[in-house]
Amino acid sequence: MTDRLFTKERKPTTPALAVSQPSGMVLARARAARSHRVPVLPVALALVVAALLVTGLAVAYGHERTPPAVSAVTATPTVQVPPAPQRPALRDLMPSGVRIGSAADGRWLSLDPEYAELLGSEFGAVTAENAMKWGNLEPSPDVYAWTGADQLLTFAEQHDQAVYGHTLLGQNDVPKWVDPAWPAARLRTVLRDHVTTVVSRYRGRVWAWDVVNEALDEDGSLRDTLWLRKLGPGYVADVFRWAHAADPGARLFINDYGVEGRTRKADGLLAMVRDLRRAGVPVDGVGFQSHLQWDDRPRDLVGNLRRFAQLGVSVAITELDVRVELPETPAKLDRQAALYRQVLKACLAVTECVSFTVWGFTDARSWIPGYHEGYGAACLFDAALVPKPAYAALIDELRRLPPRSGGVSSPG
Ligand code: G3I
Repeated sequence: MTDRLFTKERKPTTPALAVSQPSGMVLARARAARSHRVPVLPVALALVVAALLVTGLAVAYGHERTPPAVSAVTATPTVQVPPAPQRPALRDLMPSGVRIGSAADGRWLSLDPEYAELLGSEFGAVTAENAMKWGNLEPSPDVYAWTGADQLLTFAEQHDQAVYGHTLLGQNDVPKWVDPAWPAARLRTVLRDHVTTVVSRYRGRVWAWDVVNEALDEDGSLRDTLWLRKLGPGYVADVFRWAHAADPGARLFINDYGVEGRTRKADGLLAMVRDLRRAGVPVDGVGFQSHLQWDDRPRDLVGNLRRFAQLGVSVAITELDVRVELPETPAKLDRQAALYRQVLKACLAVTECVSFTVWGFTDARSWIPGYHEGYGAACLFDAALVPKPAYAALIDELRRLPPRSGGVSSPG
């Protein structure tokens, strides 16, 4: 399938500065260096220091680009500081055909410029962490609140990012005004109208949707929900068909957690996707959320992804984070980094893996502390937006692997 969103040219992303830290290959943003305005101070001295720093850091980081010339020591106050030496962002290193994304919350885009900058520069795709959930989009019957989702879409388009829509029907996201006592026909109409309205509005702007989220129980059977009870198991196929009718170009995913390794739940999901595809239901992909814990050892990630891919669907890592039992220690963060690397490697090992998404990129905004008592520090960047060993591990992994060829369309 041709991917319309990535046929355009990539805009340049904001450069960032690589900094060697005592603990090894840890990178830190030199925030001041992002600004092109220079105080009228001893510019020459500053530039010489910068030149030394840049050279040392580039060597420490090991990137191949030549740092910009900083020889203009005769600079006048009108001289612009050369751009910070560029280090490749994650999105620049991803092999052709695989997007790297992050979940994001539109609130922080305006409240936290550094959050916004990092999101725009490091990632080639964004997932709406909450803004596109049913309860948020349609807080009252037929009354839509588009602002949050629209903001995220606009941001993504300004930064040449693909948008992953999350989620049309999630187990936790049904608004309170949907009354379980309603007759089946009314529930079906309400669900169909919601799906059709949302997908139609964003037709051509959302490259993939989580159509049905967390539909399965731990034993691999369909979860006992209002929809199963009232509409029967056919509700899953219905939602996919409605979404496809509203935007035939969007890739439609079924998404779940606890299916990353070869679990019973994964077996059930596999059987379900096989049945749906046999019945001609437009399921294009399977999302593996991947909310992991630092001491997890997921079983046969690659083999598991492959057996899904063999059904003819794309696969995607959709919500990766690796929570750490607090207090975090260097050893735990190293284990965390190894898991991030392992999941990325698994995705890259499977040609049908089309995206690798983290569930938020900074510990400052992560959902984990609010939901997993005693755990935190789950993301690639710490609360001060300093990259952690997990970030370094992803960069390292991407720099080692030869680019993939073939498979899916190129992100451009
Ligand atoms: O925005 C309101 C704020 O105004 C209010 O004061 C506050 C009081 O509780 O709530 C805020 O909303 C919270 C929202 O996150 C934004 O922070 C909700 O209560 C809270 O329930 C919501 O949690 C989200 C959760 O899904 C439930 O929808 C998490 O952010 C989000 O990360 C999490 O994401 C899920 C995926 O959708 C599905 N897979 C698992 C994943 C993690 O649980």
